[in-house]
Amino acid sequence: MIYLNGDFMPIEQAKISVLDRGFIFGDGVYEVIPVYSRRPFRLAEHLVRLQSSMDAIRLVNPNSASKWTELIGKIIAGNPWEDQNVYLQVTRGAAKRDHVFPKGLKPTVFVMASELVPPSAELVKSGAKAIVLPDTRWLRCDIKSTSLLGNCMLRTLAADEGCAEAILVRDGVLTEASASNVFIVKNGTVLTPPKSHLILPGITYDVVLEILRANAITHEVRPVTESELRSAEEVWITSSSREVLAITTLDGKPVGKGEKAGKPGPVGERVYALYQQYKVKVMRAPAHA
Ligand SMILES: Cc1ncc(COP(=O)(O)O)c(C=O)c1O
Repeated sequence: MIYLNGDFMPIEQAKISVLDRGFIFGDGVYEVIPVYSRRPFRLAEHLVRLQSSMDAIRLVNPNSASKWTELIGKIIAGNPWEDQNVYLQVTRGAAKRDHVFPKGLKPTVFVMASELVPPSAELVKSGAKAIVLPDTRWLRCDIKSTSLLGNCMLRTLAADEGCAEAILVRDGVLTEASASNVFIVKNGTVLTPPKSHLILPGITYDVVLEILRANAITHEVRPVTESELRSAEEVWITSSSREVLAITTLDGKPVGKGEKAGKPGPVGERVYALYQQYKVKVMRAPAHA
């Protein structure tokens, strides 16, 4: 079951105008909210990021946070899986094709769900492969825009090489990956780039930083150079769907040195375990705590 513009229906029945600016221009924003045991994870934070994306593109939010919460709750209840990815998208709506944002359009609001399948135990144990590519995207990667062609191109280049992700570098510094944020471990310290217009402010990125702080794991939020990335002891990607996943091969070379080369490292393994514990704790907390 999906939600489109006020109605719940099977996805096959959902129709929108070909003049929808989401279709014509990619003029819209979206969120993907993980749901565990039918409870959305970090929903408030996802709705705050949605609002920032909408503000950045001058789109008026059609729903209050409580209305979004209600809609999302109905989608979760109307779909068969205990663990889901709830995808929501708001576009500016349909209008005669013209680049200038028209005022007063009725936005198109779409919510759907799919089964959430976290990385398998084998993948967590082995880690994933990635390649490093120049970040060819635009300069407002902080907006969670449906215009994802740049990300799709980069991810496809990674897939061409049998890799799970493309890790991106702009002007000699790490930004993020095509669909995740990036952390490295260098000389025992966890490093991740600061939030800026050049990266998406990941909800998982924030959770991981909270975990690092709460457990006194040495870390710094500061620019990370390409050479630090390439010589890191550990590299991880973070996202709602991939959680905390080790990258163990970068451009065909093993990440790290010695015994742990090409294998997930100890800091990432610890943070992965802490992330799983945190998820369980949050899911067991009383509702709306
Ligand atoms: C480009 C990009 N960066 C980072 C992330 C991670 O964000 P989150 O942790 O909120 O899933 C995503 C998620 O899809 C993404 O597409």
